[in-house]
Amino acid sequence: MGSYYDPDESRRLEKEALSFSRLAVEADRKNLKPLAINYYSRAIDALSRLIEREESQSLKQFYMKKIREYRYRLTYLRGEVAGKAGDGSIASYSNTFSKQDAPILEEETLPWLKPFKSSITWEDIVGLEEIKKIIKQSIVYPIQRPDLFPLGWPRAILLFGPPGCGKTSLAAAISNEIEAEFYPVDASMILSKWLGESEKRVAELFNFLRSRAMRGVPVILYIDEVDALIGIRREEVGGEVRTRSQFLKEMDGLNNKDNYKIPLFVIGSTNVPWQIPPSFVRRFNKRIYVPPPDFESRINLFKYYLNKVKYEENIDFEALSEKTEGYSASDIRDVVQTAYLEVISEFFESGKVNVEGATPRPLTMDDLLDALNRVRPSISMQSVVAFQNWNNKFGSK
Ligand SMILES: Nc1ncnc2c1ncn2[C@@H]1O[C@H](COP(=O)(O)OP(=O)(O)O)[C@@H](O)[C@H]1O
Ligand SMILES: [Mg+2]
Repeated sequence: MGSYYDPDESRRLEKEALSFSRLAVEADRKNLKPLAINYYSRAIDALSRLIEREESQSLKQFYMKKIREYRYRLTYLRGEVAGKAGDGSIASYSNTFSKQDAPILEEETLPWLKPFKSSITWEDIVGLEEIKKIIKQSIVYPIQRPDLFPLGWPRAILLFGPPGCGKTSLAAAISNEIEAEFYPVDASMILSKWLGESEKRVAELFNFLRSRAMRGVPVILYIDEVDALIGIRREEVGGEVRTRSQFLKEMDGLNNKDNYKIPLFVIGSTNVPWQIPPSFVRRFNKRIYVPPPDFESRINLFKYYLNKVKYEENIDFEALSEKTEGYSASDIRDVVQTAYLEVISEFFESGKVNVEGATPRPLTMDDLLDALNRVRPSISMQSVVAFQNWNNKFGSK
């Protein structure tokens, strides 16, 4: 990993940002402009630092949105304080504002949760044939013939393994195959204090998904980095224990008699399975290792990604595969993309782009070898051993 990521430090910053913004909104409502200006600026400052550390894309976007809102408000307030005429919209602004910051759950819809439509299919996932089969068996068969499963079936699947090797892709592909509603959430979004109390959000989430699934349409909840939701942290800012036990309760609920005909599945993914407490590990009835691509798969990955562009015939796929031990599937895509972008910029810079009918030259082996030097492998040998050990102990046989 390039940058040092300390979740506790992020949560501390989050708390700081949140309290400054609460103070700002309150001062704003009471028309204490200079104070509001001060607090909005500090909230923006804390949010900017938070964005730098935050790994969750959805949270990053959420924080950006907050920064934009506060900046907008600051511009207005500063104008007011400087004596320029404002548009007098403090009241209406504060109204929308408080609505946004309140826990935002309205009857049937969950505004922070959106079904996600992806077009990914099994063919887009190179290798992992055995794993595809296990996932299909666990989900497709019970959905097609629930009557053949009088004892119920596994409701919760844990996919574990290094990043960039297909966990999210597998969950999206199975959702497409069974035409399920697919709800990817990331744990930090659930835990974020910005949306109210986390344990309530967990309960609402499951209530909502059950109500969707009761209509007979399969529903898949995909929790990315589930370790962040249920792993135990060094410094807890409060509420985590309640959130964990709510989640535990919901996981147990998946398997109880009343729910057993409802096609609701939970797929969790993690790069650090050893951070998940044993009580949670047990609740995932299937635990599947999604390993880094082996020699054969790396060949196929290069072929898969090169087939999307033009390349010379003398590419030595075996040599590429040999040189890419420790590269994730996503790293290999980056290698091909890096090489391709090089060819494209050459095409632009040489001016050929303006010649009618001209096309970029095909990729060569040398382009790929150059790119290999620039894209570093993201999987260490050490971590692979750790995954294998964990798989031996806890993986489904
Ligand atoms: N097995 C695979 N075959 C083809 N592409 C893959 C594969 N695994 C990952 N990728 C590429 O890497 C990206 C990230 O993969 P993802 O499924 O999110 O991995 P993970 O969830 O394990 O981190 C995908 O969008 C895809 O482009
Ligand atoms: Mg992923």
